[in-house]
Amino acid sequence: MSRPIRIAASVLSADFTRLGDAVAAAERGGADWIHVDVMDGRFVPEITIGAVIVEAVRSATRLPVDVHLMIVEPERHVDRFVRAGATSITVHAEASRHLHRLLQQIKDHGVRGGVALNPATPLVMLEPVLEAVDMTLLMTVNPGYAGQRFIRGVLPKIRQLAGWLAERTAGVDLQVDGGINETTAPEVVAAGATVLVAASAIFHGDGGIEASVARLRAAADVRAR
Ligand code: DX5
Ligand code: ZN
Repeated sequence: MSRPIRIAASVLSADFTRLGDAVAAAERGGADWIHVDVMDGRFVPEITIGAVIVEAVRSATRLPVDVHLMIVEPERHVDRFVRAGATSITVHAEASRHLHRLLQQIKDHGVRGGVALNPATPLVMLEPVLEAVDMTLLMTVNPGYAGQRFIRGVLPKIRQLAGWLAERTAGVDLQVDGGINETTAPEVVAAGATVLVAASAIFHGDGGIEASVARLRAAADVRAR
């Protein structure tokens, strides 16, 4: 039976002078979620998007708005992103002092809670909170920028996490984020990823945004059967 694979379009590579148009094109192309990368210049080198942009994205689409917080002290900001209209909020295990409490804080608002791990962070960081998560995210680049090269060394971690999720949880997503394109999509899907986050491959792809989403989905679906 085929496994549904979702495509999350990361607006980090969108034309910010036409953000609403870019989001609408991703939706028309068949993207399932809009992914918003929040960076604070501390957890990662760059400063990017805050809650006001999440509000703008929320008003531009009917799709779920998936907020990826690459920030220190995420507990101080979660409530603001909930008010901005996030459907799901993912925090980094490396940045969260009380990860279990933070997930509870997110889910108490009726928002889906996720945990992300950097490429060099071992999977055991996730194990104690598996029952508390709605989604997991394995970074396949070091967070901070769009357009980086996929790190193949994360593939065994994807396989292992997919195994854990199948055994111990029901319906928990396994997102991968970074360097996902038509070439790497089949590999991560074969390893067990269920949600593919992509910025460059969608917003800088040949033939425009709609066609790029469709190609990525076709590449992912080949291996999901
Ligand atoms: C990286 C971000 C990603 C990024 C992906 O720190 O979390 O979501 O936008 O960009 P691509 O798909 O270009 O690697
Ligand atoms: Zn991201």
